[in-house]
Amino acid sequence: MTLSLVLVLVLVLVLSLSSSVCDAYNQRIAIARTVTTVYGHANNDDAGNNVNTEMGKLRKTVRKGGVTGVGVLLGLLSKNSKAVASSSKIQVQQLPYDYNALEPYISTKTMQFHHDKHYAKYVATTNQLIENTDLAGSDLITIMQKSYNTNQGLFNAAAQSLNHFFYWNCMKPNGGGDIPPKLKRAIDKSFGSVDEFRKQLAAAGNGIFGSGWAWLVQTKAGDLEIVKTSGAENPIVFNKTPILTIDVWEHAYYLDYQNMRSSYIDAFLDKLVNWDFVEKQMRA
Ligand SMILES: [Fe+2]
Repeated sequence: MTLSLVLVLVLVLVLSLSSSVCDAYNQRIAIARTVTTVYGHANNDDAGNNVNTEMGKLRKTVRKGGVTGVGVLLGLLSKNSKAVASSSKIQVQQLPYDYNALEPYISTKTMQFHHDKHYAKYVATTNQLIENTDLAGSDLITIMQKSYNTNQGLFNAAAQSLNHFFYWNCMKPNGGGDIPPKLKRAIDKSFGSVDEFRKQLAAAGNGIFGSGWAWLVQTKAGDLEIVKTSGAENPIVFNKTPILTIDVWEHAYYLDYQNMRSSYIDAFLDKLVNWDFVEKQMRA
């Protein structure tokens, strides 16, 4: 009788542990799916769906919604923010790679300061400035668009939060190299050649007086253009879709390159830029 009771208790314990393990596994799968949706890390998700195709569907949804100038990743960020709007807080997005992954072109120290101090501060300031306002619970793109020309402090914080999130994803370890075919055709059409495009983008980054951003954007007509913005400005406020950005604020490169901004831009274009990501930001 006692032995039977012990066996039953052991069986109940084993079944309980199995259930906990399954719950933990399912939670990890759900987290992995979210990260893949936001960052596009993998080609296929755990359900075997092609992420690129899914991103394309989401892009169409964003465009149907009438949001102009919003790139694929930024559109996903907007949708993701709305999905968790109940928290009312803009989240600090993690880097899509390790702090040391861009060595030796961008140091671990630069990435730690840039992400954990500068970018995180912009997000914190955004949250502080929207607290108890009509914009509490809105996504970053909405906050940026509504504060443009009406609330400079909030616009700066929100736009810088967006700009940095986009910038992290424009880079990857072992980046640079050949430009994928669809993007190369668009570059050739708009600039004549890849060499001319590279020359113009580098000149834009080097020519910004003070702090700002150099961008490759897609216009409403589908053409590619190079845009220079000052301070925190993001081309979305001009109804242009960000395709690629280079942060040329000194905090992005000064620890590694001091006053040699051109060397940092060369390293970005030759060794770091994630061309596959850039191509995916284009509309068809
Ligand atoms: Fe920055």
